[in-house]
Amino acid sequence: MAQQTTINDMKVAIVTGANSGIGYEVTKSLLSEGFHVVMACRNLEKSNDSKEQILAEFPTSSLEVMAIDLSDFESIKAFAQEFKAKHQHLNILVNNAGVLFNKPKKNKNNIEMQFATNHLGHFLLTSLLIDLMPDSKSSRVVSLSSLAHKKAEIFFDDINCETQAKWDTPYAQSKLACLIFADELQRKLESAGKKIISVSAHPGGTDSGLFDHMPKLLMTIMRYTFVPIFLHTTESAAKPILKAALDSSVKGSEYYGPTGLFEMKGPPGIASRTQYSQREDVAARLWALSEEMIGSEFKI
Ligand SMILES: NC(=O)c1ccc[n+]([C@@H]2O[C@H](COP(=O)([O-])OP(=O)(O)OC[C@H]3O[C@@H](n4cnc5c(N)ncnc54)[C@H](OP(=O)(O)O)[C@@H]3O)[C@@H](O)[C@H]2O)c1
Repeated sequence: MAQQTTINDMKVAIVTGANSGIGYEVTKSLLSEGFHVVMACRNLEKSNDSKEQILAEFPTSSLEVMAIDLSDFESIKAFAQEFKAKHQHLNILVNNAGVLFNKPKKNKNNIEMQFATNHLGHFLLTSLLIDLMPDSKSSRVVSLSSLAHKKAEIFFDDINCETQAKWDTPYAQSKLACLIFADELQRKLESAGKKIISVSAHPGGTDSGLFDHMPKLLMTIMRYTFVPIFLHTTESAAKPILKAALDSSVKGSEYYGPTGLFEMKGPPGIASRTQYSQREDVAARLWALSEEMIGSEFKI
């Protein structure tokens, strides 16, 4: 008699913010690679609609939606608890969810919303799930950064960016933090003798829900001018993230992105990054600050 395959026999991936944009494309590709994918999402109605759309395309795939709000530490802890109750292992964690705001916004802990969601939320989530990852080179934590990381540093004395003059500095700082986190996690995994890989990637530029908070007139103008020339499709933008997640040649701490015009589009390869983003003293300080802000130690 043929044995039935259960989820515990499958490779399992979590994609945060999987209901739209890059996360949606990454989810589809992971399904086609045979993963059971957990769409870790905030808006359940939208996510269930996305799940139905994906299942229409991949009817035999194994897909589930689970609720998480990455700006809310309690929600992240509840997600991790529920995930652990349902799943015995995790092979790939794609820390994809992200927000971009053009006005100051804070979470309920009074932390700047982009730093809270894009960096701290994923820092906490990873800390709660890493013990489920098999000790293997194919186990991956993929952190999403951005070309915007080049426009910031970590403002340790002003982490909420309250004295920063430019509207996009908080986003840039949060995406720099994601990149630095990926490197520091890799160093900690290596010093613990683990084979799990921590890697980072950026998608270049793609017209997605990320820009929903931008002024409508500006976005309309951009969609007739800048977008068609400089940006690529969301499907193409997902490729560096998929390379980081799946390619067997990938090494810890590598940073992938598009290699075409201004690194905004094109085929995936190693991406450029600032010297500042590679400073180990900054990484150690950010790690300690992040532990302090989430209120717990990140144990490897
Ligand atoms: N698009 C670009 O050009 C670009 C460039 C560089 C980097 N990136 C990065 O790429 C990643 C994906 O962005 P995208 O372009 O695909 O944008 P997107 O279409 O807006 O997708 C972002 C996803 O994140 C989710 N999300 C936002 N806040 C959340 C929260 N608090 N908890 C849980 N999920 C949350 C959104 O869910 P909801 O539906 O609930 O809002 C959505 O599913 C982000 O990390 C972004 O910084 C994008």
